[in-house]
Amino acid sequence: MSTTMEAVSVTLARGDGIGPEITEAVLRVLDAADAPVRFEPIEIGEAMYRAGHTSGIPPEAWETIRRNPVFLKAPITTPLGGGYKSLNVTIRKTLNLYANVRPTKSYAPFVASAHPGMDLVIVRENEEDLYAGIEHQQTAEVTQVLKLITRPGSERIVRYAFEYARAYGRRTVTCMTKNNIMKLTDGLFHRVFTEIAEEYPDIESNHQIIDIGAARLAAQPEIFDVIVTPNLYGDILSDIASQIAGSVGIAGSANVGPGVAMFEAVHGSAPDIAGKDIANPSGMLVAATQLLVHVGAADVANRIKNAWLTTLEDGIHTPDIHREGLSAKRVGCQEFADAVVERLGRAPRQLRPVSYQTTGISVDVAPSPTSTKELVGVDVFLDWSDADRNPESLGEGLEQACPAPWKLKMVTNRGVKVYPDGAPETFCTDHWRCRFLPADGSVEASVSGGDIVDLLRALLDAGFDTIKTENLYRIDGQAAYSLGQGE
Ligand code: NAI
Repeated sequence: MSTTMEAVSVTLARGDGIGPEITEAVLRVLDAADAPVRFEPIEIGEAMYRAGHTSGIPPEAWETIRRNPVFLKAPITTPLGGGYKSLNVTIRKTLNLYANVRPTKSYAPFVASAHPGMDLVIVRENEEDLYAGIEHQQTAEVTQVLKLITRPGSERIVRYAFEYARAYGRRTVTCMTKNNIMKLTDGLFHRVFTEIAEEYPDIESNHQIIDIGAARLAAQPEIFDVIVTPNLYGDILSDIASQIAGSVGIAGSANVGPGVAMFEAVHGSAPDIAGKDIANPSGMLVAATQLLVHVGAADVANRIKNAWLTTLEDGIHTPDIHREGLSAKRVGCQEFADAVVERLGRAPRQLRPVSYQTTGISVDVAPSPTSTKELVGVDVFLDWSDADRNPESLGEGLEQACPAPWKLKMVTNRGVKVYPDGAPETFCTDHWRCRFLPADGSVEASVSGGDIVDLLRALLDAGFDTIKTENLYRIDGQAAYSLGQGE
């Protein structure tokens, strides 16, 4: 047992499919290693979905999840058919688990991998970006999703990445965004990264555009160390990374929040092999070692992880990683756990032994700087599908309807300027963004909310179908909105 520690209370979900058998294997290893943990089991997942809990989590399970600082979760089967909410997304959002941490490492030559030198960690923002889940269909032809990137959300995840790098002895943090296209949203994430990197002079930092960054990750993953990135890019990068490492079945991941952290294998419940004692328990075992490091029991985590590495090195392999000529013995799930237990206290000879020392990572977010905000205009979105969809006739109609103090600045369709002076080739949908600014055209001019209401009233009276508006602000003296393509 970790000599200085009291047992930590851990919420445990045995999951569906292969969940119960890999949980059993993992618990036996933790027990044999005297891990300082005490489990509180909960029932979540398939049976609870079927019992009518739409997120798969009954109220009493929530109480336990909230009460304990850490949660070890086996994979869950999401029943097919409508009406079920993702259990993982619900837990993440409800408990503010803002950081998804997925270490991905190759264990070549003992587990086949095309990238033997790969050893990286993806720190993915877990709550914001396109996953805020705010979507609308606005016209017959057009749907939209809101991409939300916030300063506190970006600061927290970027700080977490740098603190993680320090705690785990990693040297470089790479930020990946598409800030050349999304200058406000990804631009903010990148700017916050640059600001915070200055506070960590001991850690190297760089930024890569996500497309070239992802291509490099796929071709040369060994050049990366810690990668921090917004939600969607992180989701995709994590899957690329575990796929090319050859370790989807043996990787763990953590979802970390200020109060609770949840640890699980990367893979799903594998119903095709459930109950056959052939599943590989390694993903959940690795997740359990992440949990131990998180609660301050790094010494126990090291003992287990080194025994596990030795087991891989000795060629004791479950069928998913077993290779003729490479492996020494093909074993089932429980026999694999026995082999790890037998090797407790041993360190691998060829794979690098681990020696984690960390005791959790805490992140403080500074209050956002105060700013001045002036309303300087409005984008009005219209559903307009007159037979010929001629931007000229729309623009002229809007100019006639436009009351003082407004002037129509431009109309765009899917972000491309079509009025005035549009190109005849531009394809137009039924969704038009019409930018109105004060008529005097002065940079200093500002407008009021009442002016916007007057404009909307006038457009309505003229027969236009307004579907939404976006206020245009000048924040700290700078235009805080994008220009139209061609504006
Ligand atoms: P999956 O990861 O369960 O299985 C994909 C393939 O990998 C299957 O051939 C499976 O046999 C194999 N595999 C997975 N884990 C393995 C292990 N530990 N040892 C040996 N082989 C293993 O993905 P799939 O089939 O797409 O999803 C099955 C169910 O799992 C679905 O209901 C899905 O919603 C759920 N799922 C749950 C997750 C979670 O709880 N975190 C994550 C991903 C999927």
